[in-house]
Amino acid sequence: MAIILLALVVFLMALIYVYVAMAISDWLGVPFVPTYSWDVKTLLSGLTVNKHDVFYDIGAGDGSVVRYAAKHFGIESYGVEKNRMLVWYARLASWVTRQQNVHMIAADAFSVSYRKATIIYLYLFPEFIAKLIIKLKKECKPGTLVISHKFIIKPWSKYLEKFDDIKPRRVVFNQAINW
Ligand SMILES: C[S@@+](CC[C@H](N)C(=O)[O-])C[C@H]1O[C@@H](n2cnc3c(N)ncnc32)[C@H](O)[C@@H]1O
Repeated sequence: MAIILLALVVFLMALIYVYVAMAISDWLGVPFVPTYSWDVKTLLSGLTVNKHDVFYDIGAGDGSVVRYAAKHFGIESYGVEKNRMLVWYARLASWVTRQQNVHMIAADAFSVSYRKATIIYLYLFPEFIAKLIIKLKKECKPGTLVISHKFIIKPWSKYLEKFDDIKPRRVVFNQAINW
């Protein structure tokens, strides 16, 4: 009985934590909406990745995409997230899963350098992306792959490599850009 009660309390505390973290992200301007795990698999499948690749999720939320990339590809994977509550959660999760190649950076997306990135994942609003790509274009190496979930990067449409539209479950746009 005591164990059930304890599990219930832990579950409720985790739920409250997630809701508070979501409210903070809302307040920061881009809500925390995680990419569903089945979509992560689809979006990151079929990529040619080598051990020198470096993955970044900009606006990484709870770090689940970062942990997937780190585990699936075995490469150094970074998450940049402004909401510290989500960063603490993500750090705890990667510590529990013993993923030493997961690095969560608690910072504003615009204050971080993306020079060493070779694969960048975005699940952000188009207005946010429009500002961010100016920075990415300056900093990233030619050939850097940018995957945008749900939102098309209109100024880069000529670089579009692949577009996924998965139905009827939900619509997923996979925009991979090489320049
Ligand atoms: C739609 S969620 C995506 C989460 C994660 N990438 C995923 O796909 O599961 C967007 C995230 O961006 C974060 N965010 C908003 N503004 C940011 C900023 N200026 N710098 C860094 N992260 C930011 C929010 O806190 C939120 O967690």
